[in-house]
Amino acid sequence: MRGSTISSIRLFAPAKLNLYLRVIGRRPDGYHDLETLFEQIDLADEIALTPQPKGITVSCDDPTLDCGPENLATKAALLLQQTSGIVQGVAIHITKRIPISSGLGGGSSDAATVLLGLNQLWGLQLTTQQLHAFASQLGSDVPFFIEQVAFAIGRGRGDACESLGHNLPTLWHVLVAPKMRLSTQAVYDGFDASRAGRSRESGLTGPAPSLTMCLHALRNGSLGELAEGLLNDLQPEAIRRCPVLTDLHQQLRACGSLGTLTSGSGPSVFGLCRDRSHAQDCLRAFDRSGLQLQLIQIVSTLTNRVSEVRASG
Ligand code: C5P
Repeated sequence: MRGSTISSIRLFAPAKLNLYLRVIGRRPDGYHDLETLFEQIDLADEIALTPQPKGITVSCDDPTLDCGPENLATKAALLLQQTSGIVQGVAIHITKRIPISSGLGGGSSDAATVLLGLNQLWGLQLTTQQLHAFASQLGSDVPFFIEQVAFAIGRGRGDACESLGHNLPTLWHVLVAPKMRLSTQAVYDGFDASRAGRSRESGLTGPAPSLTMCLHALRNGSLGELAEGLLNDLQPEAIRRCPVLTDLHQQLRACGSLGTLTSGSGPSVFGLCRDRSHAQDCLRAFDRSGLQLQLIQIVSTLTNRVSEVRASG
């Protein structure tokens, strides 16, 4: 019988940035086809999984997080429990550090981390491919976090992931999240192809950004080229819903970052920097006066994920 000999597991659930997000078109199922470049960063929630005789319970240090059946971590645990015929339950505790509904993939990463952790805790021996299939049912960004890689391309809904392998540079950013939250669905619903097209063309002197250009820049460590290639078709709609984003972009440019972008459906914004010391300079120069921020900090590419397993006995 499959079961657990482990008393608890603590895992980090990292956030992501989208360095490039192009909406290709609307699909018959209501979703949008994308071409996106994900980066895993070193801002992370912490997930503790503790076995219990039955039932799935979720708690969080942030009282504003809905820990009920709609929480993606709850859904992930239920999905694995039901499909694997596991009787045992689990208590999931989330320590929230990734701002909620901010375009950084916190909920998706928590769900992926629950899948990865329960696979260990319950001794399910599911392959990455099987975990991927579960992840895809939970949400479009969840499969990226199953990959546990620094960079990946997402196609389809964003769920068809292709890892970019190793030997890519570590990127440094100043990350800013305003207090406001944005619904991913609302931002996609408001997406306007013509507005996104105009935004792609505005102010361009060189070639239009493309995924190929971003990948080339990333592989060569050409940060100037990467800054020019930053693109997010959802940005105009995120700015329309959260006008303070204009000030955040302006501030990040004024403090010397190479380029700025809204991540995912927003409202988090990042400034791309040359290295750690450049990011420190930018952070110092950032004028926060009059801005209601939830978070402002330096983040960088995460290459290794750390988990701690406590065996019983
Ligand atoms: O996949 P996920 O549940 O995270 O998506 C949340 C919402 O965002 C979807 O219900 C859909 O409205 C929108 N979405 C989309 N196209 C995508 C991803 C998300 O339209 N590729």
